Amino acid sequence: MAASNFEKFKSDGTLLGNVTEWVDARFPLTSMWKQHLSEYYAPKNFNFWYFFGSLALLVLVMQIVTGIFLTMHYKPDASLNASGVPVAFASVEYIMRDVPWGWLIRYMHSTGASAFFIVIYLHMFRGMIYGSYRSPRELTWLFGVMIFLALMAEAFAGYLLPWGQMSYWGAQVILNLFSAIPFVGEYLATWIRGDFVIGDATLNRMFSFHVIAIPFVLAGLVVAHILALHETGSNNPDGVEIKKKKDEHGIPLDGIPFHPYYTVKDIVGVVVFLMVFSVIVFFMPEGGGYFLEYNNFFPADPMVTPPHIAPVWYFTPYYSLLRAVTYPLFGIDAKFWGVIAMGAGVVIFAFLPWLDRSPVKSIRYRGPLFKVLLAIWVICFFVLGYLGVLAPTPGRTLVSQICTFYYFAFFLTMPIWSKLDKCKPEPDRVTFK
Ligand code: HEM
Repeated sequence: MAASNFEKFKSDGTLLGNVTEWVDARFPLTSMWKQHLSEYYAPKNFNFWYFFGSLALLVLVMQIVTGIFLTMHYKPDASLNASGVPVAFASVEYIMRDVPWGWLIRYMHSTGASAFFIVIYLHMFRGMIYGSYRSPRELTWLFGVMIFLALMAEAFAGYLLPWGQMSYWGAQVILNLFSAIPFVGEYLATWIRGDFVIGDATLNRMFSFHVIAIPFVLAGLVVAHILALHETGSNNPDGVEIKKKKDEHGIPLDGIPFHPYYTVKDIVGVVVFLMVFSVIVFFMPEGGGYFLEYNNFFPADPMVTPPHIAPVWYFTPYYSLLRAVTYPLFGIDAKFWGVIAMGAGVVIFAFLPWLDRSPVKSIRYRGPLFKVLLAIWVICFFVLGYLGVLAPTPGRTLVSQICTFYYFAFFLTMPIWSKLDKCKPEPDRVTFK
């Protein structure tokens, strides 16, 4: 429904009423509130999987707010201070030790990065099990995949900023991947680094990407993501379209206003999330070396390569896809094909709406084929993630090659197996007890 179709606010004579009426005559405040909250009819059968969208919003806001405070004290400078420590590294230590509450802001931001990926992975998985990417929500999904890509770039740029050993050597591994592109690779890598080696120029540009460029893109994409969703209406655990059955006022029979019903329900998710988040921030901010890596507590040293370089956990499944490709093809280095595999591993999600030909959306009515194949895919994803943390051995490389093969085969053969599956009939209305 277009925003202008909603009635404008009529003042009840109170100060607040008068102000709202004044604003409403000049800005679509009430109509936006109604369109996106109080008269946005969401299916009444949302379960806990539907917490992760609002949690992603919460973490996004938290990252922006803590990020603003970190930027007040952080210095993107790779030169060495009087003690021989890079200024950027020392400024993070200064935040941790000397800035009032700086340790809390920093740990909230670093833990927030991992929390963001946990929430997003669960949010995407919900989309996969309930077929939320299917028509008519393809654009919501595509904006989501773009958000995921932007989020990865954001996390990568952010990890460089403390200028510790892992920041430096991680950037070395990833940015140098561009040099694997035939003909232009070396020039491209130099252009991206801003120097012949990773250094101050690289740090400065990653800083500007991390604090300005990518957050802008992310915020814009999130707005587009939610606008697209509110145009089609939300999917639900039954995967049935509630807009097909409406009452005489045009309100879906199985819909309830998002506000107050889901604003209140989402608070439950927020409270549980904040409890778990606080335990990590206050008691185990390094997350066992997974959230903050041991080697990143040492300042970047171009002369000392750490014995084992692994990306942060949320990148490791994709890092495994990269390392799984060990054979050159068409005379081009294996590294190049590894980069293609890694990129394809993310981009392939964008094709899901067109790969899936099942007659039903939700896992509740899908057949055994989907359930088994999806379960194996999830196992492969975890195995790839686990192997990505470890140093490669011939045995581990073989396992990651098998999992890589399955990872892609799952998607590429989906048009065939999703049609063959023995699905149950979808109900007319959502099931809700
Ligand atoms: C900053 C990151 C993101 C934010 C803040 C965000 C926010 C939201 C919100 C608030 C909703 C509605 C509530 C809900 O259904 O849970 C939603 C729905 C949805 N999101 Fe996201 N999202 C993000 C990333 C993603 C990503 C990466 C994907 C997929 C690749 C995705 C796919 C979807 C889909 C398909 C829906 C509709 C689900 C349904 O109706 O069943 N989102 N998102």
